[in-house]
Amino acid sequence: MIDWELTWSPYDEPTYAAVLSALRPTDVVLDIGAGDLRLARRMAAIVQRVIAWEIQPDVLKRGLEWSLPTNIAAILTDARHELVPPGVNVAVLLMRHCTTFRFYAEKLAAAGCRWLLTNARWGLGLEKVDLLAERVPYTAVSLGWFACCCGHTGFVPGPAEELTEEVEKLIHEVYDCPKCG
Ligand SMILES: C[S@@+](CC[C@H](N)C(=O)[O-])C[C@H]1O[C@@H](n2cnc3c(N)ncnc32)[C@H](O)[C@@H]1O
Repeated sequence: MIDWELTWSPYDEPTYAAVLSALRPTDVVLDIGAGDLRLARRMAAIVQRVIAWEIQPDVLKRGLEWSLPTNIAAILTDARHELVPPGVNVAVLLMRHCTTFRFYAEKLAAAGCRWLLTNARWGLGLEKVDLLAERVPYTAVSLGWFACCCGHTGFVPGPAEELTEEVEKLIHEVYDCPKCG
């Protein structure tokens, strides 16, 4: 069986552009699963500091073939076992097959990291998750899209006449969804 979470494949330019456009010069960014550092290098040109964690030595080695900017710390490690470094306010998790979304989200929030830029929940496009935002129980959503802290997403069906454009655009941040383990 393939462990998709451990598969290294770079993402497309629109995904990287969405990440880069969400960053500010004062940010301290944690890149979880940084691959060959291609995005970490571009982020480092914009932000204060980038800490890049990658588990696969051969993949990280490619990214170290030429010198790194001084504001990148590239670390060969298993992100599941690391403490979030102090000062990190933005994390990047580009891992469409991530099975550990909840674990990372909770660990980052506990460390005070506010933003998570990720494609792990919706699987395609990038979203900017406010890790410190208020969440409602899944059962409080009567109609519309939801995204759960466990990493699952979906749509709660309801009366068609109530499905306005506004309702369709709204994503409810929830906990205790039917797929929560
Ligand atoms: C889909 S790739 C994306 C790489 C990079 N972010 C990019 O866009 O080019 C996901 C990366 O996460 C790494 N990864 C998966 N699980 C990890 C873990 N527990 N700790 C550190 N890196 C991990 C994989 O080795 C892989 O390089």
